Amino acid sequence: MALIYVDDLIVGMVLAEDLFTPKGRFVLAAGASLQQDHLKILKTWGVVEADIDESSLGEGYSQSQELNAEFIEKAHDCLGHRFMLNDLEQEPVATLYRHTVHRFALELQQGFDPGPLSTVTPLEISENGPPPLSIPHLLKGEVDIVSLPTVYTHIVELLDHPDSSSQQVAKAISKDASLTVRLLRLVNSPFYGFSGKIDSVSRAVSLLGTNELSTLTLGILVIRKFQNIPSDLLNMDSFWRHSIRCGLFAKVLSSHLGEKGAEKYFTGGLLHDIGRLVMLDRMPVQYSGAVAKARLDCLPMYRAEQDCLKTDHSIVGKLLAEKWRLSPALIRMIGSHHSPRLARYSTEACIGHIADVFAHACGHEAMLVNEIPELQIAAWEEVGLKVELIAPTIRQVEAEFRDVVRVFFGDDDSVENDV
Ligand SMILES: [Fe+2]
Ligand SMILES: [Fe+2]
Repeated sequence: MALIYVDDLIVGMVLAEDLFTPKGRFVLAAGASLQQDHLKILKTWGVVEADIDESSLGEGYSQSQELNAEFIEKAHDCLGHRFMLNDLEQEPVATLYRHTVHRFALELQQGFDPGPLSTVTPLEISENGPPPLSIPHLLKGEVDIVSLPTVYTHIVELLDHPDSSSQQVAKAISKDASLTVRLLRLVNSPFYGFSGKIDSVSRAVSLLGTNELSTLTLGILVIRKFQNIPSDLLNMDSFWRHSIRCGLFAKVLSSHLGEKGAEKYFTGGLLHDIGRLVMLDRMPVQYSGAVAKARLDCLPMYRAEQDCLKTDHSIVGKLLAEKWRLSPALIRMIGSHHSPRLARYSTEACIGHIADVFAHACGHEAMLVNEIPELQIAAWEEVGLKVELIAPTIRQVEAEFRDVVRVFFGDDDSVENDV
């Protein structure tokens, strides 16, 4: 008997055991010889692996295709719980589940240890600390949340000015050495896949365009600004890894739809949860109560925020994006990533939503709660993505992920040496 991943099953293999879906629904009996229709049904219903009679494996079978049952079971246990807010009988969800279980089982087999989710105790209100920020003040923007870095403000002023040239934009970027090396590292990484080396900002501007380059600049500067927010609740490293993964999923999914503006989608994904940082920074005591509730009631964070704080991080992020006068597309991605309906299922909002769910499913970063937010099928259907693209999308994102993390978090010197 051999446990075979569903994508490696072929017509003619014979089941050694009865086959069930992850939800326990009976699919096929032991002894059944797999036919083409069966293979499609197994994938549609989220079946990850099947016990196959070894005598039916055929000559094409290689030992490396065999999964270790112990790790598959562990992956099911862990991800079955993390997907609890999702409907595994929906085809896109079933496909995402199948691929994440397979990847996770392989990682476990290679020695990966996910570790426990850190515990969160609601913070005590300190008598000497600043008074908690009231929600109406935060929502009305009566407090200075955070200002945009001046270098970006200057770039936007240049872009708004009809007489300014792309050379002036390149010069404004080049004044910031750390920004420059990160930007060049990013455009030289597999993120773009340009064949020749791009060694100056003016060359990058001529290849990508000023608007596109300034959008990437925004992402780099915002990460730098928020990178070191002290928080007892959220690990910043995990936060930005999730955000980068979301940005990459948004970029790759949008390219499958033939959308232009890879930078817009990447930066929108990168900044989608920025409202969380504002809330953690400005109202840590109230926010810790929302985190505790999310864990206790197994809610996604935005629902617990709505219950406890009467708002959520997508709304706070939208306010911040509006205050920064970001483009309407970025505002839609940030403000509607949990409710694409609010942006009338615009492509940006739907992509932002789907990318967030994929980033949660594929990343091991503990983002305060373990549950993967519900994939809203209406958003999936609205943009018309095909389930066959899920596997190649995950592969492409994972291939680019390390390089892009290094762009943002490698130190300036190591980045400079790479350019
Ligand atoms: Fe979010
Ligand atoms: Fe997120």
